Amino acid sequence: MNTVETILNRRSIRKYKQDPVSEEDIRKILACGMAGPSAVNARDWSFVVVNDKEKIADWAEKSGRAGNIIKDAAFAVLVCADTSRSFKHAPEFYVINAAIAAENMILAATDLGIGSVWLGVWPQNEKIETQKAYFELPEEIIPQSIIAFGYPDEDKSGIPHKDYEEDRVHFNQW
Ligand SMILES: Cc1cc2nc3c(=O)[nH]c(=O)nc-3n(C[C@H](O)[C@H](O)[C@H](O)COP(=O)(O)O)c2cc1C
Repeated sequence: MNTVETILNRRSIRKYKQDPVSEEDIRKILACGMAGPSAVNARDWSFVVVNDKEKIADWAEKSGRAGNIIKDAAFAVLVCADTSRSFKHAPEFYVINAAIAAENMILAATDLGIGSVWLGVWPQNEKIETQKAYFELPEEIIPQSIIAFGYPDEDKSGIPHKDYEEDRVHFNQW
């Protein structure tokens, strides 16, 4: 798949086969997360990767509704902002930077034939606190999202993606 095809073919996958994802592919996906742009090149993210089956089961059990998806994932990543690295004059860029890393990982996984879904954490305080407590995160680390990954056990290839919406686009003026 070329990049445009990868983007247009990506769908959220919430059911996974039990096959593990190799550590090589996990690292490839993480490298793509780290390859995204970040404001003032702050690279103010950190990733908690969970690929141990027992740990996944335990984490899922303590993660509310998201746990229903996490429990069957081959691995899942808690994408975090590391605010100690954030741009001092506009630290809020960390949200965007972490989101870019998350989406890059999703697209890399799609290209490798690995399904994924974004599970929202930030800005929902209860979810942020749940993840902070579960992983005993340091004060400066803010959980932003959970991305669950695994080989797809559902076929969304026949479901066309959203059409191009002309009424959302304004050329040269509003
Ligand atoms: C910020 C964000 C939070 C999301 N949170 C969840 C979630 O908690 N649970 C879930 O099943 N999907 C979640 N999704 C996935 C969306 O539901 C999904 O992207 C959307 O329905 C469009 O479907 P598609 O990804 O197949 O194009 C989230 C996506 C984003 C970008």
